[in-house]
Amino acid sequence: MTRVNIAIIGCGGITLQNHLPGIALCPDTKLTALCDSDPAVLERARQQTGVGVISTDYREILRREDVHAVVIATPNFTHAPIAQAAAAAGKHVLCEKPLALNAADARAMAAAADRAGVRHMTAFTYRFVPAMRYLRRLVAQGDLGEPRHYRSCRLQDWGTRNLGWRQIRRLAGTGELGDMLSHRIDFAHVLVGPMKRLVAHLLNLTPVREGAPNDTEDWVAIVAEFACGASGVLESSKLASGRNESWRSLDYVELNGSAASAVFITGQWNQLQFGRLGGPGLAPLPVPREFWTWPGSPRDPQAGDPLVTFRYDQMWEFVDAIRSGRPCDNTFHDGARAQAVMDAAVKSAEGRRWVELGGE
Ligand SMILES: NC(=O)c1ccc[n+]([C@@H]2O[C@H](COP(=O)([O-])OP(=O)(O)OC[C@H]3O[C@@H](n4cnc5c(N)ncnc54)[C@H](O)[C@@H]3O)[C@@H](O)[C@H]2O)c1
Repeated sequence: MTRVNIAIIGCGGITLQNHLPGIALCPDTKLTALCDSDPAVLERARQQTGVGVISTDYREILRREDVHAVVIATPNFTHAPIAQAAAAAGKHVLCEKPLALNAADARAMAAAADRAGVRHMTAFTYRFVPAMRYLRRLVAQGDLGEPRHYRSCRLQDWGTRNLGWRQIRRLAGTGELGDMLSHRIDFAHVLVGPMKRLVAHLLNLTPVREGAPNDTEDWVAIVAEFACGASGVLESSKLASGRNESWRSLDYVELNGSAASAVFITGQWNQLQFGRLGGPGLAPLPVPREFWTWPGSPRDPQAGDPLVTFRYDQMWEFVDAIRSGRPCDNTFHDGARAQAVMDAAVKSAEGRRWVELGGE
C-alpha cells in the first residue's frame, strides 16, 4: 500500500487535539472522510479540514473502498459496535480508550479484529511520552531489578462543571476509572506485568454537575498485587482543587525495584528521577534524545509544545504498523486487559472486597 487513507469517526475534542495533527504528521497518509452524528460538528470539521466526503452515519464511511483505516473517537458506548463493523469491513482500526464498556465487549472487539486480519490499536496515548518510553526501556533491560512497588497518581481539577456524556454511566461505562486511570493501568501492565488481584474504592462526590445528574465516580483508588508479587497503588481524581485540568496537572508514576527506583512525571517529558539502592536519593536522569520521538517518527521534538506534540506519534505508530503489516505497539488485547482491571475495580468497590484477576 502506498498511500494510507484514513477516515475519522467522531470529530470532537480528541480528534481536534490529537488525531488531525497526527495524520498531518504522517507522510503518504490522507484524511479521506469524516463522520460525526452531530451535523453541526461535522460541518465545522469539514470546513476546518476541507475534506469532501462526510457522513453522519459511520456505516456509509465503512462501505467506501477508498478508506483503508478508521479512527474511532466517539463516546465510549459506541466503540464496540463501530470497531466490530469496521473490522468486518476490512478496515484497520485505531480506537479511543477506554476500549469498551466492559471486558467482554473489549475481548470481542479484539477477536473480531484478529479474525479480520486488520491492524488494531487502543489509544493509550501516554505510552508515547518520551520519559515513559525511556523508563520502559530501563525496566526491560533490568536496570531497576525486580519490580517491588508500582505507584501512580493522576490529580486534576475539573471542578463541578457538566461533563456531558462522561457523567452518564450508561454512555461512559465508568467515570475517572476509564477516563484517566485506564492509561495508568496500561502503564502498570507495561512496566510490571499483569495483576493477580485488587481491591478498589470509587467515590462520586458530585452527584449533580451544573444541574445535571452524574452517576459516575470522580475519584478512584486501587490497591493491587501483580502476578510477579509486586504491589500497586493507583489513585486518580477529577476533584483535586487547584491542580488545574490541563496536561500540566499531576501525572506521576513511581517504580521501586530491587536495584533502583525511578519516577516519571508527564510534565517533565524529557527527564526521569532515578536513584540506586543504598544511594544518596533520587536525582534527575535526562531522557536520551533518541527517546524524544517514537522510533521512525518524522516529528521534530523541538517544534511546538512537547507536552502536546508527543501525542501525534500515536498516529505515526498506527500508520507504520499498517504499512509494515506488523502488530501495533499496543493492540485491542492491551485495551481489553486494562478493561478487565476496570471491571474488577467496579466489582471490588460494589462488593467491598478483593477481586481475583488471574494474572493473565
Ligand atoms: N487518548 C486520550 O488521551 C483521550 C483524551 C480525550 C478523550 N479520549 C477518548 O476519546 C473519545 C471521545 O472523547 P472526546 O473528548 O473527543 O468527546 P467529544 O464529546 O468531544 O467528541 C465525541 C464526538 O463523537 C460524536 N459521536 C457520538 N456518537 C457518534 C456516532 N455514533 N457516530 C459518529 N459520531 C458520534 C459526537 O457528536 C462528538 O462530536 C472517548 O472515548 C474518550 O475517552 C481519549
